[in-house]
Amino acid sequence: MNATLKLTDLHPSPDDITGDVLAGLSRMPKRLPSKYFYDKRGSELFEQITHQPEYYLTRVELALLQASGAEIADEVGPRAHVVEYGSGSGRKTRILLDALDDPVAYTPIEISRSALLASVERLDREFGDVEVLPVLADFTQPVPLPKPARKAEHAFVFFPGSTLGNFTAPEALRLLRAMHQTMGDRGGALLGIDLQKSPQILEAAYNDAAGVTAAFTLNLLARLNRDIGSDFDLEGFTHCAHYAAERGRIETFLVSQKQQTVQVQGRSFDFSEGEAMQVEYSHKYTDAGFAAMAAEAELKVVRGWNDPQDWFGLRLLQRV
Ligand code: AVJ
Repeated sequence: MNATLKLTDLHPSPDDITGDVLAGLSRMPKRLPSKYFYDKRGSELFEQITHQPEYYLTRVELALLQASGAEIADEVGPRAHVVEYGSGSGRKTRILLDALDDPVAYTPIEISRSALLASVERLDREFGDVEVLPVLADFTQPVPLPKPARKAEHAFVFFPGSTLGNFTAPEALRLLRAMHQTMGDRGGALLGIDLQKSPQILEAAYNDAAGVTAAFTLNLLARLNRDIGSDFDLEGFTHCAHYAAERGRIETFLVSQKQQTVQVQGRSFDFSEGEAMQVEYSHKYTDAGFAAMAAEAELKVVRGWNDPQDWFGLRLLQRV
């Protein structure tokens, strides 16, 4: 890492993979947390998903950011301290920072030190005049922000990708309340949210023909076998994603192809043939539903942008 770059380490409690997996496998129905998809291989596979023809989310959001950049910049105003939740490939960050009027600083917030360092190396080289102030922290909690050398007008949280959709409603509400704290008095936020649409389009996006999403889901088991010594048989489970319209979300499962027993840290878990273990939710929003959830976190939608087909939305939030 560049020696002039200062990283703020808020010492987030490290993920308890073993504890989370044992707890999830003990529930009925069984479940595993989707946050563990993103090891090195999982992040590569997700990047490949974003290039699949059926996975419209990334493509549409990038185009929407490009098209709305000037209007977003007008709303946000000059000298923002941009705070990004998670650190992705940087493609969206670049578009936002290029569009904004004289952004003062950029703070990616990440719980993984390696992911944070990797993104920051790249970004610091790219954005010469923007002070890069990474923070190692859990963004689902309020995060005190580092002070840029040059005074910022306000903090501006960027949370693209419809990543909010991976959280259940109560978790998403907690996250939005933390965001309310983190953004401060005159702050704002821009969220990317995937919108409700025909089940055919949604289900195709999570069942691409090339099988990349299936490989991404199954990689969770490979990752657990490596990192916590479980013995999941990768051939014994298949990816299954369907749109539950009544709950407005894609629900992804790993379905056991046979009766089998999996060992994790000396404990045995029986799977019956056809048993579905829940591994990911991807919530799809309506305007009213999203605004209502934001309101519960004392946030109001001050402006929104959708692509021409209303498939994906950007929402600008401020404190009520
Ligand atoms: C990056 C979390 C938003 O839920 O659409 C893509 C992850 N899972 N295909 C999503 C994902 C399966 C993605 N997010």
